[in-house]
Amino acid sequence: MHKAVEKILVSEEQIKERCAALGQEITNDYQKTGRIPYVVALLRGSVPFLAELVKHIDLDISFDFMDVSSYEGTESIGDIKINKDLECSVKGLSILLVEDIVDTGRTLKAVTKMLKNKGANDVKVVSLLDKPSRRTVDIEADYVGFEIPNEFVIGFGLDFDQKFRNLPYVGVLKKAFYQ
Ligand code: IMP
Repeated sequence: MHKAVEKILVSEEQIKERCAALGQEITNDYQKTGRIPYVVALLRGSVPFLAELVKHIDLDISFDFMDVSSYEGTESIGDIKINKDLECSVKGLSILLVEDIVDTGRTLKAVTKMLKNKGANDVKVVSLLDKPSRRTVDIEADYVGFEIPNEFVIGFGLDFDQKFRNLPYVGVLKKAFYQ
């Protein structure tokens, strides 16, 4: 275990198993609708999750990346800055948004609203982690890997100060690292 980690919350094995189940569920759901999702991953935290998940989606998907950040000093919904936009228009597409974690829900709410404003047909969300106790806006992911308690976590894409994204598991960051 890495020295920055207090305890492992979700092991590498659990992540692999859950991604296989989620991929299957997503495949079945979209097969029922007859639509193919355009998979949009939010940089950078969702990259390891995207890589594991798409192996188990048995549909002819394409994927693309967006990088967004909140404007400093504002907490209002919709006020997000696009650092990297999608390569193609989302008009009429079924979007499957891939997130690392839903915390307050503000990022998800703002990105979902923006994609719908740009003409997406429908937007569904898959998130590796969910911290429901931290939610401040009314939004839920359609597919969740693991519900976790209110702890600051690192690994499998999640960072502290841009580090620890490469850990193969999700662990609680030792308080000594940020206190
Ligand atoms: P939200 O807009 O508050 O839901 O924030 C979502 C973003 O906050 C995520 O995409 C993460 O980048 C970051 N975040 C929230 N909780 C954690 C955590 O425990 N560890 C690392 N990053 C986190």
